[in-house]
Amino acid sequence: MTEMEDNLPVNVREYQELAKKALPKMAYDYINGGAEDEHTLRENIAAYTRIILRPRVLVDVSKIDMSTTLLGYTMRSPIIVAPTGGHKLAHPEGEKATARAAASCNAIMVLSFSSSCKIEDVASSCNAIRFYQLYVYKNRNVSATLVRRAESCGFKALLLTVDTPMLGRREADIRNKMVFPRSGNLEGLMTTDDHDTTNGSQLERFARATLDPSLSWKDIEWLKSITSMPIFLKGIVTAEDVEAGVAGVIVSNHGARQLDYAPATIAALEEVVRAVAGAVPVLVDGGIRRGTDVFKALALGARAVMVGRPVFFGLAARGEAGARHVIEMLNGELEVAMALCGCRSVGEITRSHVMTEGDRI
Ligand code: FNR
Repeated sequence: MTEMEDNLPVNVREYQELAKKALPKMAYDYINGGAEDEHTLRENIAAYTRIILRPRVLVDVSKIDMSTTLLGYTMRSPIIVAPTGGHKLAHPEGEKATARAAASCNAIMVLSFSSSCKIEDVASSCNAIRFYQLYVYKNRNVSATLVRRAESCGFKALLLTVDTPMLGRREADIRNKMVFPRSGNLEGLMTTDDHDTTNGSQLERFARATLDPSLSWKDIEWLKSITSMPIFLKGIVTAEDVEAGVAGVIVSNHGARQLDYAPATIAALEEVVRAVAGAVPVLVDGGIRRGTDVFKALALGARAVMVGRPVFFGLAARGEAGARHVIEMLNGELEVAMALCGCRSVGEITRSHVMTEGDRI
């Protein structure tokens, strides 16, 4: 055993500390940061700490089955890798390393539209079920081309991110004059390539030039017309925004990088689950740092969860092995939480296993 292996982090927080040491400030701030006052960033995590578990004892938990299904695919556990852009900021192998890590854990990875590796390179890096995340650009041809490329590479579902008509104000990126690595995915598709680093966040200016702020409900029909992949909406936090006609809903505030003072996602989950009323699966992301957080999300009605920063930190700290270790640690923590709550399968995790602040009033 090498000295490094002997001192492996034992939780996500320790991976975050390692990542902070390993990364240049601009990259770490980009990954870690949120919008404006970062109130929602803190709340995404704090809201989980206010939910209490209600364990059941004297259940035979000698066999724990964490598997679950989504769109007919069986996953080893309900943990999915969230789409996060720019993995080459953390490691030269970028999303290819993350994809191999996810595949080795039998976890679904969602590839970001802003990936720093080409879609085709990630697809050929390993065999796995993968989903694709989409931003809609003013130049629809760019988005349509990338959707078609993902579909022909075997991606199984499309996550349309709906909380980003423009980029939230991420002040650390503005201060650092953030420069974002390009993937080559956009090569030959567009002329906007703003590498002027003299004034604020380059990412912010690029987003303003490209993202289509006119995106609305009618565009879902357009998207359906160009792909046969099932579509999830990523970025719903209110019952008012639950509409029929998609394959799934993801309760997300973009890791608190968009609208500050949006609700913590775990606090918004039940409202959305009630509005969806079992019609389609509901996923949640934001602030998940422990297996107990995954357990709480399932108890409040999520079919599965997505984790963003923890995997990115793992990648930054130890490359593919670190990303894999983060997913495995969360799986291990979930297994213990299930056993200690007397749940042998994810189907046995119910609302009665948690107590929220609302329950206590
Ligand atoms: C993101 N997120 C994101 N979402 C998306 O739809 N497309 C993207 O390209 C990105 N990029 C991205 C980069 C980084 C560095 C972060 C931290 C996040 C949001 C992401 O999918 C997810 O919603 C959050 O990361 C979940 O919160 P946690 O797990 O990071 O707390």
